[in-house]
Amino acid sequence: MRCVVANWKMNLQSEEARAFCEDLLVHLAPEPQAELGIAPPFTLLSLVSGLVRPKGLHVFGQNGHAEDKGAFTGEISMPQLRDVGCSGVLLGHSERRQFFGETDEALAKKIKAAWQWDLLPLLCIGETLAQRDAGETLAVLGQQLSILSQTGPGPLWVAYEPVWAIGTGRRAEAPQVLEAHAFIRAELIRHGACADYEVPILYGGSVTPESFPELLNIPEVAGGLVGGASLDPHKFAALAKQAD
Ligand code: PGA
Repeated sequence: MRCVVANWKMNLQSEEARAFCEDLLVHLAPEPQAELGIAPPFTLLSLVSGLVRPKGLHVFGQNGHAEDKGAFTGEISMPQLRDVGCSGVLLGHSERRQFFGETDEALAKKIKAAWQWDLLPLLCIGETLAQRDAGETLAVLGQQLSILSQTGPGPLWVAYEPVWAIGTGRRAEAPQVLEAHAFIRAELIRHGACADYEVPILYGGSVTPESFPELLNIPEVAGGLVGGASLDPHKFAALAKQAD
């Protein structure tokens, strides 16, 4: 399975999103082989899912709360994501961990809530530059994946995103990606996550159409989670074609 997911972060407004989707659909192969997805901000979920879900693309929320409803001002629940046409939800993006105090404990609950509402969690993990420099990369990834011992198995996609490579133009080198993805696969197997489910491992961090073919050649790289380059429909269509 190959997957390419656009993470729009806090970008675009309605007319830009509509124009993006219309342009993208014109430039995609008629029947893309890769699994494609878009993670727009909450305000655009309804619009984007109406446009791309009929064409078979996934739509992901960028976050979701573990409770179904209640007094959680500013939050969005998993059933609310489903209600606006989402098929999945990004969980644990490093910007959520870094700026909004997302914890592994909360993420374990969120994964279970996503499954309850039939949403596919795309769990993001990755080390900071300080952690890499201290030789802690694999320990950090192992810690972030240890929540799977609490959740048990279920449908899951994982994205390896070294924090120092996100939005910096500094992509991880092939041997670094190879080492991380092989380790993640071993951990997924150890936690029993892959026995009944195919769990693709995406790479994220400054992915562009120029760098993507090399990444796709690395064992265990099933695709990309793409920020900056995914705001251009032509670049996103090019990435989708490379993954086909
Ligand atoms: P980037 O973002 O492609 O702009 O580095 C990736 C991500 O944050 O998912």
